Amino acid sequence: MDAPSPHISFEEYKETAEWLLSQTKLRPVVAIICGSGLGGLADRLEDSVTFKYEDIPRFPTSTVQGHAGKLVFGRLVGHDCVCMQGRFHFYEGYSIHTVSYPVRVFSLLGVKTLIVTNAAGGLNDSYRVGDIMIIKDHINMPGFAGQNPLCGPNDERFGVRFPCMSDAYDRDLRLKLRSTAEAMGVVHFLQEGVYCMVAGPSYETIAECKFMQTLGADAVGMSTVPEVLVARHCGLRVLGVSLITNKVVTDYDSKEKANHEEVLQTTQRQTKLLQDLVCGVLQM
Ligand code: HPA
Repeated sequence: MDAPSPHISFEEYKETAEWLLSQTKLRPVVAIICGSGLGGLADRLEDSVTFKYEDIPRFPTSTVQGHAGKLVFGRLVGHDCVCMQGRFHFYEGYSIHTVSYPVRVFSLLGVKTLIVTNAAGGLNDSYRVGDIMIIKDHINMPGFAGQNPLCGPNDERFGVRFPCMSDAYDRDLRLKLRSTAEAMGVVHFLQEGVYCMVAGPSYETIAECKFMQTLGADAVGMSTVPEVLVARHCGLRVLGVSLITNKVVTDYDSKEKANHEEVLQTTQRQTKLLQDLVCGVLQM
């Protein structure tokens, strides 16, 4: 019989966490994973201490353009936070277990809440480029193909064998984000919907986009879901936010083409708003 899929031991996560705890007096309760071009939040941390991924024992290292590859500890609106500037993607060639490695480290640091941001393509016809979507649920396409970071031996010190995912995205945090947007007068940018993860790195075909629309997905992207699965498994509360950076193409006569430049341009335009919203949630 085949051996179980690549297993990362509890001791490995612990080694990373203990090294980090030995390097700083900060004890983060909130972790923030910044999506493509959305790493500016880390620059808002006060009394910050920064670690390059390559300097952290057993931590994976980042390769994609627009991702800095740093873990930043600091204080954000009164909370000790740890911020990932640059995440790991399945399409970079990492195993799905490696992609979510940092989340178990965060849990061992004492983190209770995970905030994940990403850039996503809008599948919902009513969405506009620049909208901000609160993730209320997800569809795990790689999961249907056997790529779930919880596959393999289960370590009960992290969580149960068969974790529930019907409440993956915390209701209270979603309401707080909505209230923040109302107070800031930006609800016209706000959407709430279902995020569909694809493996990437190729953008979707027209038929694939239509398929995902039929499934009830509102936005599509290449990240987030592995981290959320692992976070929920170890009992973290999760807030997920997508910035709609482009509209997917669903018309065979269209001259539009999905491209990374448009994604980065939209993130530059809306990144401050997204940062303000996250800070607002932490303030409540
Ligand atoms: N598809 C997949 N991932 C994405 C997209 C998209 O259209 N936009 C930003 N990330």
